Amino acid sequence: MKLSRILSNQNGVSRKQANALIAAGRATVNAEVCTDASLDVDRFATVAVDDTIIQQGSPARYLMLNKPAGYLSATEDDVHPTVLDLIAPDLRAGLHIAGRLDRATTGLLILTNDGTWSRELTEPRIRIPKVYRVTTAHPISPETEERFAEGIWFEYEQLTTSPAHIEQMDATNARLTIYEGRYHQVKRMFHAVGNRVISLHRERMGAIALDGKLQPGEYRALNQQETQSIPCR
Ligand code: URA
Repeated sequence: MKLSRILSNQNGVSRKQANALIAAGRATVNAEVCTDASLDVDRFATVAVDDTIIQQGSPARYLMLNKPAGYLSATEDDVHPTVLDLIAPDLRAGLHIAGRLDRATTGLLILTNDGTWSRELTEPRIRIPKVYRVTTAHPISPETEERFAEGIWFEYEQLTTSPAHIEQMDATNARLTIYEGRYHQVKRMFHAVGNRVISLHRERMGAIALDGKLQPGEYRALNQQETQSIPCR
C-alpha cells in the first residue's frame, strides 16, 4: 500500500494532509524519514508520524525445511501429513510454500509469510536457478543434455521450458538445474526423453542451499544473507 494511503487510513487524516506530513519529513518507514508519498509499504514495515506509530510491522518469517518424503507441500490436508505439521505451531500463522515439491520429493523447501519475496523466488520470468539431484529408472540417454538445453515442449501449458542444464554423475544419476517451477517439471522433462524419475531431491534455489546440518524434517530460519540474495530485498 502507498505510504500516503497508510497515513490517510487513520481517522481524520485526508490524503492531502498525509501528503503534506510526508513532504514535511515527518513520516518514517522503519525509523527512516521517507518523503516519497507513493512508496509501496508492505505489512512488515513499521510506519510512524513524528513519534506516533501508525502501522506496527508484523514479523516476516523465512524458513528452510529439509523436506522428508511423504509430506505434502500444502498447508492442510485431510489425508496426508503436510510440511506445515513439521513447523512449530507458533511459527505457522500466515506461512505459505515458495515453490512446492511433490510428496515423494525431498530436500530444500522454503516457507515464508512474505508474498512479495516468494514471488521473486518462484516467478519463471525472474529465472532463479533451482538445482535437483535426480535418479532415473533407465540410463540417461546421450541426447538428454541437448533436449533439455533446447527446452521441452509442454503441451498443457503450450510453452517450451527454459534451457536447463544437466550434469551427469553416472548412468542414472544427475544434477539438473532448471529456471522455472512448473507442475511436475522435472518428471515431465525426463518423461519427454523416454525416461522416468525415481527419486528427486532439491539442493538449492538461487543462492539458498539446503543446510547440510538439517536432518529430514528439521528446519531453520534463513539468515539475512540468504533472504537478501533474492532480488527484491
Ligand atoms: N519437479 C518435479 O517433477 N517434482 C518436484 O517435486 C519438483 C520439480
